[in-house]
Amino acid sequence: MSTLPPPPATPQPGPDSEAAALLAALRLQLDWGVDEALAEAPLDRLAAPPPGPAAAAPAMAARDAAEAGAPPPRPARRPPAAVLPLAPLALPAAENAAALAAAAPDLAGLRAAIERIESPLRDTATNLVFGDGQPESGLMLIGEAPGGDEDRLGRPFVGVSGQLLDRMLASIGLDRGSATPGQGFYITNILPWRPPGNRTPTDAEINLFLPVVLRHIALVRPRHVVMLGGTSAKALLRAKEGITRLRGRWHALPAEAGGLPALPTLHPAYLLRNPAAKREAWSDLLMLRRSLDRENSPDPTTK
Ligand code: URA
Repeated sequence: MSTLPPPPATPQPGPDSEAAALLAALRLQLDWGVDEALAEAPLDRLAAPPPGPAAAAPAMAARDAAEAGAPPPRPARRPPAAVLPLAPLALPAAENAAALAAAAPDLAGLRAAIERIESPLRDTATNLVFGDGQPESGLMLIGEAPGGDEDRLGRPFVGVSGQLLDRMLASIGLDRGSATPGQGFYITNILPWRPPGNRTPTDAEINLFLPVVLRHIALVRPRHVVMLGGTSAKALLRAKEGITRLRGRWHALPAEAGGLPALPTLHPAYLLRNPAAKREAWSDLLMLRRSLDRENSPDPTTK
């Protein structure tokens, strides 16, 4: 912005006083925020173009037609008003995340999409923790968020609670490395990035990444989903109840997640802190095993 000389202490009579008045008017405009001179007079950019040779042409054509006894020519259409190109609007983060996830054609594409979703978690985490195991197994487990070990190694459930989970799943014949039908599983989290200090994910973080998880489910196309812990169960079932009320029975995921059968169970980190709750977790695992067996049974009467 330009600067003006300071106002004279006392206005002087004569041409100087006129200059002082002009300077005062200019200073007032600056105070109002005017900082650019455009033109002497206001310009109406929406007004019709001034009549010129081109504008006179239709009138002359009408007069010529009337003299020749012909119907007057139809007036030429007004050219469309010039449309100024708009700068592309930046989508809000959540809409952008949903659009990126929806456009992912496969798991590799979804992984790349997550890298592009703006989130402070992305800036504090070390590695993206996407998924592990057998996407074709028909069974998908979904936890909460990576912890320190997962963040370091870029794989879900590889720390202490992950090791407990692996042992529990092994006791019902499941192994994330197995490609045998009815024995393998695929595992991921609601959040792909570790929250700093392993804090509980915020609602905003969960809502940001929920469309990503739904797309993840749609791409893996499991026949059964297991939700590990309250964060996962409440986010996917859109439930208000806690995990102790939700667990122990099959639910249907919402329509946008394909209405798949989904079993909430206790998170292995909770079981490490509350070993007595392993009884309930064991009962949930047996329920899961029965469903997998029914699905893999060659006898159609047991399905
Ligand atoms: N807890 C989770 O919910 N996910 C992990 O990957 C590890 C611990």
